[in-house]
Amino acid sequence: MSSISVQAEPILSVRDLKKHFGGKKTWSGAVSKTIRAVDGVTFTIYEGETFGLVGESGCGKTTLGRCIARALDPTGGEVVYAPKEGGAVDLASLKPRDLRPYRQDVQMIFQDPISSLNPRMTLLDIIGEPMVVNGLARGEEVKHRVGDLLERVGLRAEYMVRYPHAFSGGQRQRIGIARALALNPRVIVCDEPVSALDVSVQAQILNLLQDLQAEKNLTYLFIAHDLGVVEYLCDRVAVMYVGQVVELAETSDLFARPLHPYTEALMSAVPPANPRAARAPRLLEGDLANAANLPPGCHFHPRCGYCVERCRTEEPELREYSPGRFVRCHRAGELKLDGVAELAEADL
Ligand SMILES: Nc1ncnc2c1ncn2[C@@H]1O[C@H](COP(=O)(O)OP(=O)(O)O)[C@@H](O)[C@H]1O
Ligand code: SF4
Ligand SMILES: [Mg+2]
Repeated sequence: MSSISVQAEPILSVRDLKKHFGGKKTWSGAVSKTIRAVDGVTFTIYEGETFGLVGESGCGKTTLGRCIARALDPTGGEVVYAPKEGGAVDLASLKPRDLRPYRQDVQMIFQDPISSLNPRMTLLDIIGEPMVVNGLARGEEVKHRVGDLLERVGLRAEYMVRYPHAFSGGQRQRIGIARALALNPRVIVCDEPVSALDVSVQAQILNLLQDLQAEKNLTYLFIAHDLGVVEYLCDRVAVMYVGQVVELAETSDLFARPLHPYTEALMSAVPPANPRAARAPRLLEGDLANAANLPPGCHFHPRCGYCVERCRTEEPELREYSPGRFVRCHRAGELKLDGVAELAEADL
């Protein structure tokens, strides 16, 4: 885990970011339902930190990550980026031409290293092409740089003439990391980079990401549904539920004492550190709310064991509960929720 220094500066400030799909007239004249995939997300990421984003599948993590890297155009809101030189810019509203100087600063690593690499391109083309397109290198220089990058991510320089299918899942993710590094980015959106890999390979890739971060002072937005990985890797964590952040805290605070019932429910699904520990199963019941037909009031209320009348009608706001801790729940602070660290200690 990297520790953020007190002087760390904001590098990305996401403000009320929205991405809605649908809501358009179809050929028959009917209007398709609006899917609120990302619905008013606000947080700040500091330079050099690893900021975690967790939540169930379908809650909007990938869409949010892609909007931040401008692989998708947001429907509304801001992504204010502080470049190394010059004033802050809103990446969300820049026209493609004006976006070009900043694009290389924010790169992505994808969940599925197989489908994210073009099978008809050699590693030299996959990693080298962005360098050529962005004018960072030409001719022999591209080969040198690609060779160095391959070695840096734990592969051999001579592999550059091969195609992605020749490699294992872990090696392909190393190629994906080399491609993301090709343009010397400052921020990398890591979208579940180890979810598709064997457990034995996961730790190697996470260690590589940590080493690269320390070496290049990278900032990570680390998307995961595995809370164990997040606890190990992230400085701060945002918990997402149908397009919205419901809790945001420093990792140790979040795991010791969650403030949102959804966070508690996610944690109760984490296997206990002590396998003999008998834990009251409080598994997450019911399905994720439908982003095209959200329940009134608190969007989590149909699944929440702490729901009261007010929760059914009044939507809670994300508020700062204590410095740096944000929560979206009417009953925050009043509930005594279980964290993972507390349970592990109590169960020993
Ligand atoms: N291109 C798209 N068109 C329509 N709906 C989409 C599109 N991409 C994602 N969605 C919907 O947006 C929601 C969030 O998806 P996603 O960001 O992939 O979630 P996650 O990464 O957390 O699993 C889901 O309901 C998904 O079906
Ligand atoms: S606002 Fe109510 S329903 Fe929503 S999480 Fe809090 S207690 Fe549960
Ligand atoms: Mg996803």
